[in-house]
Amino acid sequence: MAVQAAARDFARNDLLPGVIERDTHQKFPADQIRKMGELGFMGMMVNPKYNGGGMDTVSYTLAIEEISKIDASASVCMSVNNSLVCWGLEKFGSEEQKEKYLKKLATGEKIGAFCLSEPEAGSDATSQRTSAEDKGDYYLLNGTKNWITNGGSSGICIVIAQTDASKRHKGINALIVEKGMPGFVVGKKEDKMGIRGSDTHSLMFNDVKVPKANRIGEEGFGFKFAMTTLNGGRIGIASQALGIAAGAYELALQYSKERKAFGHHLSEHQAIQFKLADMATQIDAARLLVWQAAVLKDQGKDFVKAAAMAKLFASRIAQEVTTEAVQIHGGYGYVKEFHVERLMRDAKITQIYEGTSEIQRMVISRELLRV
Ligand code: CAA
Repeated sequence: MAVQAAARDFARNDLLPGVIERDTHQKFPADQIRKMGELGFMGMMVNPKYNGGGMDTVSYTLAIEEISKIDASASVCMSVNNSLVCWGLEKFGSEEQKEKYLKKLATGEKIGAFCLSEPEAGSDATSQRTSAEDKGDYYLLNGTKNWITNGGSSGICIVIAQTDASKRHKGINALIVEKGMPGFVVGKKEDKMGIRGSDTHSLMFNDVKVPKANRIGEEGFGFKFAMTTLNGGRIGIASQALGIAAGAYELALQYSKERKAFGHHLSEHQAIQFKLADMATQIDAARLLVWQAAVLKDQGKDFVKAAAMAKLFASRIAQEVTTEAVQIHGGYGYVKEFHVERLMRDAKITQIYEGTSEIQRMVISRELLRV
């Protein structure tokens, strides 16, 4: 497909140079993300009337897979902007919000962040401590959000906060908060194991006045908003995990044809052939789960279970495949120059963010037992 080829070319030409250096120095790929916006990768599924690409979810997964083969730090920025911010805004935002915010997010002129996690509310997302006190025509926002992808570079944040604690999750709101609003402070940048080019920050809100017009949906819709957007987000992260695995596999396959040991290419040794066979099988299985979830979403069918299964499986095989790719490379696999050690470190986060593997199992089993 054209979009897949375009993503592949972009990743090889624009992301590959400097990816090791960005990882080492935790440098956000700002120029590359700007170009991704120009190429239409930041708002792929958004309706063209809001400056988006008007593409389906399957096309989106193909693009994320290609970009993740090379640079998972760029692809998480892309995934959050597309799935958690643009998609949620387009589906649930007001016309005014779409005009004002979505149009800029879809072109990458502004980068979006999705702020749900807190120091004491990760998997247990209903326990929101950030408060959005109803003050009539605005909410007074106070609290801290943790591990926020695009935290330093985003211009527009969707912040989940508790307005009426007595109503538990039905008293939570989703608010659009602009960088630069008084009281909005970008906190420390995390020093991470992987996806080190992605800028992950804590964000602080100290008496930030957020206009009522910036609430997404009805009063108390915020938790449902977060859960629904995360269902779609999980397809993005599953595609990312798939891409990380496929990238490592492709490098290992190539290396096995070049490197000789005991008088033969590695690819002629059955021990390596069997590893490659297992890796390729796992990758194809993950890709089919990703596509299943994407097709169901595109058809307007229930994709909650399928998205959770895709993320659960793809993130697991990303761990296994990248580890085997390092093993096939031997000593070279353990040094930065050969890329696979970075992919192995990058793979781990896919089992943690946008719902840990344990949360995916909760989601899947609840869906199985629901009827
Ligand atoms: N889709 C739609 N709605 C859902 C849902 C889903 N997958 N899961 C739960 N809900 C709804 C429920 O229907 C319920 O609403 P109603 O009362 O109206 O029916 C409401 O949410 C509360 O659900 P539960 O009673 O089941 O709540 P719970 O506390 O038992 O469990 C949970 C909720 C599923 C565990 C949820 O807290 C969860 O998904 N946690 C994981 C959070 C997460 O994924 N965090 C990722 C952070 S974002 C991120 O990583 C982005 C990034 O930067 C990369």
